[in-house]
Amino acid sequence: MLRILEPSSPGYAVEHEHPLDPMSSAEISRTSAVLREHFGLGDDIRFETIELVEPGKEVVRGFVPGTPIERLARFNVYRRARTGVWTGKVDINLGKVVAEEFLPDARPMISPEEFLLIEAAAKADPRFKAAIERRGIERYDLVCVDPWTAGNFGVPGEEGRRIAHTFVWMRMFELDNYYAHPVEGINVVVDVDTMEVLRVDDHFEASGDYVPVPEMPLNYDSAILTEYREPSSPLDVIQPNGPSFIVEGNKISWENWDLRVSFNGREGLVLHSLGYTFGGKRRPIMYRASIAEMVVPYGTPEGSHYRKNVFDSGEYGFGKLANSLSLGCDCLGHIHYFDVVLPDLFGNPRAIENCICLHEEDAGLAWKHFDFRSERTEVRRLRRLVISSITTVGNYEYASYWYLYQNGTIEYEMKASGIINTAACKPGTPQKFGTEVAPGVVGHIHQHVFSARLDMEVDGPGNTVMECDTHAMPIGPDNPMGNAFYVEERPLKTELEAQRCVDFGKMRYWKIVNPNVTNWVGKPTGYKLETGSAVQFYNDPEGPSGRRAGFAYKHLWVTPFHPDERFPAGDFVNLSKGGEGLPTWTKDDRPVENTDLVIWHSFGLHHLPRPEDHPVQPCVLCGFKLMPTGFFDQNPIIDLPPGKNHASKSTSGEDAESCCHHA
Ligand code: CO
Repeated sequence: MLRILEPSSPGYAVEHEHPLDPMSSAEISRTSAVLREHFGLGDDIRFETIELVEPGKEVVRGFVPGTPIERLARFNVYRRARTGVWTGKVDINLGKVVAEEFLPDARPMISPEEFLLIEAAAKADPRFKAAIERRGIERYDLVCVDPWTAGNFGVPGEEGRRIAHTFVWMRMFELDNYYAHPVEGINVVVDVDTMEVLRVDDHFEASGDYVPVPEMPLNYDSAILTEYREPSSPLDVIQPNGPSFIVEGNKISWENWDLRVSFNGREGLVLHSLGYTFGGKRRPIMYRASIAEMVVPYGTPEGSHYRKNVFDSGEYGFGKLANSLSLGCDCLGHIHYFDVVLPDLFGNPRAIENCICLHEEDAGLAWKHFDFRSERTEVRRLRRLVISSITTVGNYEYASYWYLYQNGTIEYEMKASGIINTAACKPGTPQKFGTEVAPGVVGHIHQHVFSARLDMEVDGPGNTVMECDTHAMPIGPDNPMGNAFYVEERPLKTELEAQRCVDFGKMRYWKIVNPNVTNWVGKPTGYKLETGSAVQFYNDPEGPSGRRAGFAYKHLWVTPFHPDERFPAGDFVNLSKGGEGLPTWTKDDRPVENTDLVIWHSFGLHHLPRPEDHPVQPCVLCGFKLMPTGFFDQNPIIDLPPGKNHASKSTSGEDAESCCHHA
């Protein structure tokens, strides 16, 4: 929690209770004021990033409440219409820039404030208007131009600029779902700094063979839909005594868990300092966890669709596009919301109310046994803590859920919803790179590949990743019946050795162990990474898009912790050349054994759209789990108290008091 002591004081103005407390509105305003004065760019200054510099681990781990806290902000600022970015740090308390570097080739993200300006620039261009008119479209006011990041394809005239590339749709009437009506074959290239239209590409002008705009309406807005199925009977989540978690500032305590949450414009939701207390001892598990990057490559070479290869995190900012969540709709149950404050493009604090949702859920059966001799049953139910936020990137929704379970498991789940990106085809001829999801509407094949950055500290910072492969033995003297199989573990000792992919033939998994701490059978304590959603990445690694997404070719990377190594596709991804981030850092092949290490897990969705994904996609899921494996000496929830849910009833009229044999 923040306390503003003396808002007008030029020096130490804000007192924090913890080094990871988020930046306040006052701190964002103060930082942008310092930067405005320092750079003297007047109205041309733009703020891509202002975020807290998280203090060193030794500061966080050893923090004693009440001690003064150094507050530094990291910044990326630029001058409108000039290529390059100033990056550095501001000491908020001193009110001055303490580190500064100009990166002439870096291009900042495309900001939410620029989306509609890009559309306006395209629609103001007579070449674009002529291309629309050539298609016989009369309602120019209903034409929608979506900006996409442009990638780096070496197209003459685009070099050195900060550009966006666009695709076009149209509404048939106000509030109509425009993604049902793709206007095929027109792409505009806009210089986002000057809002100059560099080019209008009309792929059908030469042949005159236009693909018609599909006109069938397909809508989801409740202002348009009139027919609904009968509603289900009410299903209420009620916690008569309130939730079991405790929130103090950004610290959450629940069951045996404690952690902190934060939120920034690029990664969105971040978890910090996850620990589990058992037998009176708090044991650290993960220092920091976030989804640090993602890429969505589309698989068609047709027209300009090859350019669709978007890094929604590094090129737009997952956090900047986060929603304000609504109680009873996005969030069901007894909810605690965290509000978030982020800087806008002009350095002003912008609040996202109800941005992070915290609640508890029943998670089904925890464990059970029926002893057939004594005929006694013991059964317990499981609960999980859910920390979530939802981001809208253009047509898609990404809903991020972190689950902490009573049994020590940590799970991440990404629910993808929203509207698939559509293109138009002549009805019945979608070509092999997509599915015709409605007559004349194609959803092209694509993937969503995320990179989870998991800064581990299983029982402390000295961790090693073990690769665990299962081998079957050939039939022979040592295996006469041909039944033998076993798991072989080997440490991944260096960064290059630790670039790994799943192998179904070996039932491969990875375990993060602490070789310095042993459990009651003398083995290192550990957590297993369960990779349920690893995807094969299909972009050619030498192609202009593949080069920029190096992280996606391996399902696991391991690096020694370095505070500046945060973004696996590089710090400045928009229009990047490629090779930045993980492929560059790991070239030195640093040792990663018994080290303070970070693991990076690539996972995601392989998505050939279905008609059922249109007009709005039912949530599809991907994610991973971290499961204690030799971390505890035995089932850590054997101590869950016996109990019943007294609100439960059966359809035959029984209630929970009368139904079970078990007390
Ligand atoms: Co998809």
